[in-house]
Amino acid sequence: MPKDVLKGKKIVLGVTGGIAAYKSAFLIRELIKRGAEIKAVMTPAATEFIAPLTLSSLSQNNVVVNIFPESKSNSTNLSTWHIDLAMWADLILIAPATINTVAKIAHGFADNALTTVVSASRSPVIIAPAADVDMYENPVTKENFQKLESLGYFFVYAEEGELASGLTGMGRFAGINKIIDAAEIVLSGYKKDLSGRKILITAGPTYEDIDPVRFIGNRSSGRMGFALARAAFLRGADVTVISGPSSETAYPEIKRINVRSAAEMKKQVLIELKKNDSLIMAAAVADYRPARVSAKKLKKEQKLSEIKITRTDDILSSIDNTGKTVIGFALETDNELTNAEKKLKEKNLDIIVLNSLKDKGSGFEFDTNRITIIRKSGKAVKLPLQSKFQAANKILTELT
Ligand code: CTP
Repeated sequence: MPKDVLKGKKIVLGVTGGIAAYKSAFLIRELIKRGAEIKAVMTPAATEFIAPLTLSSLSQNNVVVNIFPESKSNSTNLSTWHIDLAMWADLILIAPATINTVAKIAHGFADNALTTVVSASRSPVIIAPAADVDMYENPVTKENFQKLESLGYFFVYAEEGELASGLTGMGRFAGINKIIDAAEIVLSGYKKDLSGRKILITAGPTYEDIDPVRFIGNRSSGRMGFALARAAFLRGADVTVISGPSSETAYPEIKRINVRSAAEMKKQVLIELKKNDSLIMAAAVADYRPARVSAKKLKKEQKLSEIKITRTDDILSSIDNTGKTVIGFALETDNELTNAEKKLKEKNLDIIVLNSLKDKGSGFEFDTNRITIIRKSGKAVKLPLQSKFQAANKILTELT
């Protein structure tokens, strides 16, 4: 297995005083599971919502709350702990960040342990804000977000939904998985380099119905397509996914269109491509379908060989590529490079991503993939075995 990007990474987790502070416990658990080292720094207000002992137990580290030593009776401790902690961190993750803490950072305050560490830090900083809808959408808050974003702070913005107040709207703390994906992206050196891009991604298999019970399908899980969608969104793109039957999930901000057959996928791709600047065809589209779908369940006396099979349309060959960047995939078991290059030309692609089922750890059922990126110019780059999320990021860099 390739090494997890989060393994051994030193993360300062800043927790501030909002109701979502309790979710920082789940965040720590997941980060620890992935092998990260966590030191939590809480604002005094955060301790009203969750006990420092909880975060200390989960992180297996001391939690910093006070900027000054609690006891003044001993000789003064000339500690520069805030500088040490800032230097220790590979990443500072402030989750949840209240609008108060965001405002302080945007204006250079260093009036508590967390803002002091942030002001002293050289590492990247991720801010995941959470607040009630009116506080979140306050124009002053928005201005602070924009200012910090332009200074290079990486935001994982709040989501729309039910809020602790009973109101509904923007301000819900982002999902834990999304925040962890963002940590992985930032620790891998990626930025919001796809801002302003509109990317259409297809994912999963297609099912070609034989009758109300049976279908012709394939083993695609949709993992590669959804990894691409998550990574593209976090890197700033506006993302639409057209997915065949798949149990994979995206973030709420990603538009998802569910389809079943190759014909349905083709129809949606033709509609959606007009609204997007790029297409990544990660779906494993079935090449054959029954010539007609039986309305009734076929009885077993009906021989399989009697079912008439016909070709599905090739989606990539049916689109208008003008002005679009198009990336296709090639899944091969032999003559990999030659076959992939042939598909690149025939389907008029800018890039083709070759997956070889021969490579250990690559394929539908794995979380990892070994891909080769082949450009129109002929240059082929074979990448090592890595997680599908990491592979997705490498593919997306081709669009920057
Ligand atoms: N593709 C498509 N429409 C289809 C079949 C495939 O647009 N009906 C796309 C896939 O999404 C992928 C690329 O074409 O991006 C190559 O798919 P692949 O299955 O590797 O190749 P095929 O063209 O189907 O050829 P073969 O199955 O013979 O290898």
